[in-house]
Amino acid sequence: MNVLGIESSCDETAAAVVRDGREILSSVVQSQIDMHALYGGVVPELAGRAHIEAIVPVVDKALGQAGMKLDGVDGIAVTNTPGLVGALLVGVSMAKSLALATGKPLAGVDHIHGHIYAVKLAFPELEYPFVSLVVSGGHTSLYHSRSETRHDLLGSTTDDAAGEAFDKVAKILGLGFPGGPVIDRLAKGRDPARLAFARTLLEPTSLDFSFSGVKTSVLYHVRGQDGKKPRALGEAEVGDICAGFQEAVVDVLVEKTLRACARTGSKRVAVGGGVACNGRLREKLAAAGKGLGIATYFPPGRFCTDNAAMIAGLGYHLLREGKGSDLMLDVEPTKRTRV
Ligand code: KG4
Ligand code: ZN
Repeated sequence: MNVLGIESSCDETAAAVVRDGREILSSVVQSQIDMHALYGGVVPELAGRAHIEAIVPVVDKALGQAGMKLDGVDGIAVTNTPGLVGALLVGVSMAKSLALATGKPLAGVDHIHGHIYAVKLAFPELEYPFVSLVVSGGHTSLYHSRSETRHDLLGSTTDDAAGEAFDKVAKILGLGFPGGPVIDRLAKGRDPARLAFARTLLEPTSLDFSFSGVKTSVLYHVRGQDGKKPRALGEAEVGDICAGFQEAVVDVLVEKTLRACARTGSKRVAVGGGVACNGRLREKLAAAGKGLGIATYFPPGRFCTDNAAMIAGLGYHLLREGKGSDLMLDVEPTKRTRV
């Protein structure tokens, strides 16, 4: 079964064709990052417009690279939650139009569940159940994943997402957008203990996150509490701030993930989303897990950041389980269901 996946929830227009939920026949990602970088973050209105321009060529390219036309597609999957409303609408409208025109079945896919499925695409041998940590620019959540389509939410951020904190700290330091990759790079070789920033763990049993405190502690360090401190930072100082900040975020992510493993009794952890590219997170979570007999699964970078292969792959399972959608499928910009 060939599923065409479409993703437009944030700043990447993506389409992919995946066979039987496993074999990636094509995966096209057109990023808008250069456009948003001018503003230091994603501008929702601009994202929506850019998706409109890109969606048809991107879908065409994905079909072409898979060596097929629409008649070779057996189902259509599209991200319909969560994300920017105007951005989601473009992908969903495209998918519904294609489903209407071709009569093929349609599935609405949860973007965060898609990030978890991306780990399965990279590691087909990974067995359910496992703990999933999804860390990206828009989300920071822990789940107990029981199957491709069943993910029980254990905790999520109460304010900023981890990637958002990386992006905002990079902005404070004048490092450009997106902040994660550059902070990751500048922190390398610096002492993460030289500057300690706030680690917010909330209540001892909590699996929720809070990253606004660490961001503010960096801001105060750089600008002073009254915002008047002149900002003249040397290269070494910037490196130390990056290392100290990154360490604070990583420590919280590791601690909460281990708590989730203890709570669920799970010995496997899947990590997805853009922040899963982070070198220090990979290093520290793998090492902490090893000591406790917990295996960690970090996919390669192209499976961590937004793509449509994860949407097509998960769409296959939804369609097979009879969890497809009709043409009334709507977008749901925010989704928070806790068990
Ligand atoms: O999953 P993604 O592509 O889009 C969302 O769904 O948000 O994640 C993008 C986020 C950005 O905030 C970016 O700064 C962060 O992932 N990111 C990183 C790294 N690479 C990307 N954060 C930390 N370290 C990295 N190496
Ligand atoms: Zn994402």
